[in-house]
Amino acid sequence: MPIHYLEAHRSFFLQSAGSSYICQILPQGYLAHVYWGAPLQPQNLDFAFQWRDRPFSPNPDNSNRAFSLDTARLEYPVYGNSDYRSPAISVVRSSDGSRQIDLRYKSHTIVPGKPALAGLPATLASDSQADTLTITLADEELGIEVDLLYTVFAEVPVITRSALVRNVGPATIDLERVLSASVDFIPSVAGSHFVHLSGAWSRERSVEVSPLRLGTQSVESRRGTSSHQHNPFFALAQHGADEECGNVYGFNLVYSGNFVASVETDAHDSVRGQIGINPFDFGWKLEAGETFQSPEAVLVFSPEGLGGLSRAYHRFYREHLIRGKWKHEPRPVLVNNWEATYFDFDAEKLEKIAATGAELGVELFVLDDGWFGKRNDDTTSLGDWKIDPRKLPGGLEDLARRINEKGVAFGLWFEPEMISPDSDLYRAHPDWCLHVGDRPLSQGRNQLVLDFSRADVVENIYDQMAQILRTVPISYVKWDMNRHLTEIGSAKLPADRQKETAHRYVLGLYALLERLTSEFPEVLFEGCSGGGGRFDPGILAYMPQYWTSDNSDAIARLSIQYGTSIVYPMSTMGAHVSVVPNHQLGRVTPFRTRGEVAFTGAFGYELDLGALSPEDREETARQIALYKEVRPLLMQGDLYRLRSPFRSNEFAWMVVSADRREAVVTHVNVLAQANPTQLFLPLRGLDAALEYKVQGADVTYRGDALMQLGLPVPPAFGDFISTQWWLKA
Ligand code: DGJ
Repeated sequence: MPIHYLEAHRSFFLQSAGSSYICQILPQGYLAHVYWGAPLQPQNLDFAFQWRDRPFSPNPDNSNRAFSLDTARLEYPVYGNSDYRSPAISVVRSSDGSRQIDLRYKSHTIVPGKPALAGLPATLASDSQADTLTITLADEELGIEVDLLYTVFAEVPVITRSALVRNVGPATIDLERVLSASVDFIPSVAGSHFVHLSGAWSRERSVEVSPLRLGTQSVESRRGTSSHQHNPFFALAQHGADEECGNVYGFNLVYSGNFVASVETDAHDSVRGQIGINPFDFGWKLEAGETFQSPEAVLVFSPEGLGGLSRAYHRFYREHLIRGKWKHEPRPVLVNNWEATYFDFDAEKLEKIAATGAELGVELFVLDDGWFGKRNDDTTSLGDWKIDPRKLPGGLEDLARRINEKGVAFGLWFEPEMISPDSDLYRAHPDWCLHVGDRPLSQGRNQLVLDFSRADVVENIYDQMAQILRTVPISYVKWDMNRHLTEIGSAKLPADRQKETAHRYVLGLYALLERLTSEFPEVLFEGCSGGGGRFDPGILAYMPQYWTSDNSDAIARLSIQYGTSIVYPMSTMGAHVSVVPNHQLGRVTPFRTRGEVAFTGAFGYELDLGALSPEDREETARQIALYKEVRPLLMQGDLYRLRSPFRSNEFAWMVVSADRREAVVTHVNVLAQANPTQLFLPLRGLDAALEYKVQGADVTYRGDALMQLGLPVPPAFGDFISTQWWLKA
């Protein structure tokens, strides 16, 4: 049982593999945070509370001047009675406008397994894999109860948290802020650096690290989706922590809409880390008897730096987030026609790409944007999910069957959440897009956003997509989303519920995904939002892989994939070989490098395979054959990042099998150097006592030498040279 309750001290010890998370009910009934970090046996930790009278920290009970919520470490802080730091929850009672809330312990339960979260994706666990502690806090005067859910996993250093708010009083309560997790670190373990993943379209998830300073540091999205700009993740790294050592605490939100991730440091070294739905432009009316469920936060502790944090997230997400058939099935090697043809294709062109793909070993052909309505560019037809007979006179079914006959599966692109003003759907239902009264509508890529907070809108898109998925032999869906939300208002919601629109939009999206993925469990869904604009665990719960970036340049991808790997497993990162000069950057890189960089993800091609030179064609066949051999290792192995492209001219990482008998190592030398120094690449995660043979070469090294001296890297002649080794014991 990984959860222990010490009655004598009213403390909860949550023991996930390799970590302890401890909270305690204070004599006043407040739920205090005690500790999170390396494992501690259940014991008396009352000494963690050193109360002292501090000027300007008021006292809820004047008979005890040493006690103030301002200086307490709390599990779910509120505003109004002495804590001035950022609260986890804010409410307004409609009957009197009261914003006061005072949450104290009411009861708790501990059960095996993990309950589902109504309407939201969440990680999964069987009764033998995890236990769940629910602590109910209540404010009886206000008529509110909050269930804090903590699931503790036996095999991974992970604790998931979420909050369920219940209106148990007679008055309507307006929720203004309901965060998923708040942790007040004890100063001795609090991190000293704020790590987050930020960027923009085509340069997503750059690793940003800044020292903590007094005040608040945060990242957030106000774009309606988790966005390219920031990821719903942050970590606190202890002073001196690096890639392989030091304590790091990760927070990741299983949510695809507006979020906030923040850390607040005060003058007494109190460090409060929080993550949840962004209170910006959020509101929720909770009628008597109703509940509101927050998304889930995934908290990971690593004593082995960022590398250990990543490996824990990867293992956890592969096992407990990704579900269905594609959790363990090998992901198909695909070819996508987007960069090969853009909108300019016909059946013959597509079939040719698929036929060449079949000869080279490709397993899946993906027809991207432009197959529906009258779409020859991005100005039209989103929402009209019907074949364009001018391009594909035989219809989708015929095309899919012809491609299947070549031995290649068929996949199809959709952008389900969007509507073009020039579409039959818009002409029939102009009020189905997000809008605010008669105000003009901002367009992005010539398109508007469908109001997915409305069940009738979601139903229509479900009908259109399900009809195609039922009749056409489709094995894969690419689910795109090419703009962020504006004019966030819904014609269906009353005035006092308009602030619910953005969250209801996300719930509508999840409802559609839940329905389609349940009804078509064989289909592999790949997420996309102009590349990696919504790469988050909420989406990954339905779509096991995600198009990492619209930037397909191999050198740009080194940083994008490296940053993405801080949280997300390699199996989730769509990575394709494309042509040179690269369409986003104009850069020319060797074909081999493009392949070896794309190998480190869910692998594919995004070019006209029929137009390859004989050498590139041969190399393609070699890459595909090799990828198929190492695919199980790449998809399920442990990742060790060896060289950061953010910090050097090199990139290197390796993936090691669970039994440590096999590894694939990839090194990229970005710019060539005259008279170069001999590089040695110390490896990690191998078995020191095993002999490893380099596949395809007559060389053997012992694991200890590989990890201490390092693998000798051949000198690079020319820019952008990669080397890949497959080692087998
Ligand atoms: C953006 C995606 O990221 C691309 O891969 C492609 O699918 C286009 N949209 C199609 O419009």
